[in-house]
Order: sequence, then C-alpha cells, then structure tokens
Amino acid sequence: MKNLLSLKCWSPEDIREVLNLAVEVKATPAQYADMLKQKTLLMIFEKPSLRTRISFEAGMTQLGGHAIYYDMSTSPMGGGKETIEDSIKVISRMCDLVMARLFKHSDLLAMAEHTSIPVINALTDDSHPCQILADLLTIQEKKGTLKGLKLAYLGDGFNNVTHSLMRGCTKLGMHISVGSPEEHMPAVEVTESCMQFAQESGSELIVTDDPAEAVQGADVVYTDSWMSYHIPKKEEAKRIKTFTPYQVTAERMAEAKPDAIFMNCLPALRGAEQTAEVIDGPQSVVFDEAENRLHAQKAVLLKLSGVVV
Ligand code: CP
Ligand code: NVA
Repeated sequence: MKNLLSLKCWSPEDIREVLNLAVEVKATPAQYADMLKQKTLLMIFEKPSLRTRISFEAGMTQLGGHAIYYDMSTSPMGGGKETIEDSIKVISRMCDLVMARLFKHSDLLAMAEHTSIPVINALTDDSHPCQILADLLTIQEKKGTLKGLKLAYLGDGFNNVTHSLMRGCTKLGMHISVGSPEEHMPAVEVTESCMQFAQESGSELIVTDDPAEAVQGADVVYTDSWMSYHIPKKEEAKRIKTFTPYQVTAERMAEAKPDAIFMNCLPALRGAEQTAEVIDGPQSVVFDEAENRLHAQKAVLLKLSGVVV
C-alpha cells in the first residue's frame, strides 16, 4: 500500500484494513492526534472541490500535521512552464505526502512514477477512490456488513465515481448494478476487470440501460452528478434529456428494498440526478457519507505514511 492511485491496485485485504482503521479513527480520534506531527501533505487541485479539500486539510490538522492547498492554475506545472516530472521531484524534497485532483489519470500515474512519497488520487477522469472508501464505510455503518449487499448506481456510467464503485464493490463481494444510457456506459476495460474481481469475490456485476432492472431489490441506491466538473456547460441540455429516465425519484426508490439507503457523493442538484424528496428524505445518508470522507482519508494518510501498519 504505497499509493492510492486506484482501487484496482488495492487487494480486498488492503481495502478492508483501511476501512477497519477508519472505524477506529472515527471512534477514538484522540488516539491518532499526533501521529502525523511535522508531516506535510501537498494538495494539488486542477478542478474545484468542497469535500475533498476540506476533509484532507482538516484530517491533517487532526492528525497533528499540515496541509498545503496548491492551485494548479497558478502553478508553473499548470502553465506548461514546468513538467510534472520536475515538479513532483521538487515537491518530494519538501513534503511527505501528495494528493492530486487532476483531469488526466495519466498525469497522476506520471507523478507516482517520479516520486517515492505516497501519491493519493483525489479524483481523475478514471476514478475517485477516496470517495468510495468513505462510501463503503458508510454502507458498513448503516447495514452492518458489505458482502452480499446489492448497490444500484443510476446515471452517468462513464464516470470516475462509477468506476471506483464498481471496483470497490466487486472487490469486497458486493453486488453492483449500473443503470446508464447506452452512450454513457462505464469504460469497457473497467467493466471487464470488474467482472473478474466479481468472479473472485463471488459477487455479481450487471451493466444495463434499464433503470428499473438496475434498482430492483437494491440495498443501496447511488447516483452522481450528470454534469461532472469536466463536462462543458453546452452539453447540459442534451445530458438532462438523456439522463432524465435515470433520475432517482421516490417511485424509483420504492423499487429497491424498503430499507434501502440513498447515497450521492455530492455536490448534488435537486431536480436533476435525484429529486429533492429523495435526497432530503429519510432514506438519504448523504451527509453521513460526506462526513466519512474525513475518517476514511485519515485512515489512508496513516496507512500510506507507514505510521500505522
Ligand atoms: N465528493 C467530492 O469529491 O466532493 P468535492 O468535489 O466537493 O471534493
Ligand atoms: N463525477 C463527479 C464527482 C464529483 C465529486 C465529477 O467528476 O465531477
């Protein structure tokens, strides 16, 4: 567990270890208060953020360390004045950990290749593993288990959160069904590798364009924005039309199990990927889910720093 680039690279045991540590960190934060004393996390952002920035920054404070927010648009790296390779070599002389929210996953891999300090994926075009660790922690808290549960994802399948959910669920033996329009299905290589993970963990992965089929009997109903940060505004009208049949409504929720929970990684738009009635209703756990970003990422920081083995 040197980096957190993608859940694809973590074994089911790695994921469970971090989730177990997150449970401990959440229950007894004082016990971990000085564990990253004198350590610095650099946080590189090429896209906006509320949760990721604040949870990492607060997390480092709570662990006794420090976090630096670094805006890519004001950096020589972002301006094309300095290569990623040179930048990361400099960063690794000054910082102990680095996390990055980037457009291209290949840029994150380039960072990891040219440094020996731990690199954390804070969202790329491929994946959002930190989010899914928090999601799994939330599901475990609400349902008492993960293995054997069914998660239904509705909406944009060709999406970082969807890809990481597929990897996380299939690695841990959770069934996952993705309901997306034909032209927004998950990346083929992600589906293929997750079919393999599902086989190994004894779970089932379904990818369908039928939202009713996807949601039937689900323990968790999950959706994400139809307008991810990188999607141009001019595509909005077309995307609303395409994704509207996949909106999570109260009627759709009723097709899942009666005790199903509703999740959204946030930011959310009421009246788009879900109705206000659903996200503000009794089945919604979105704010517990958001809070768990903090606890799950503190566990990631502790593990990758090597202070908790
Ligand atoms: N869920 C999530 O990553 O939120 P932010 O974009 O606000 O960081
Ligand atoms: N899929 C979304 C997730 C936001 C946290 C995006 O990439 O913008």
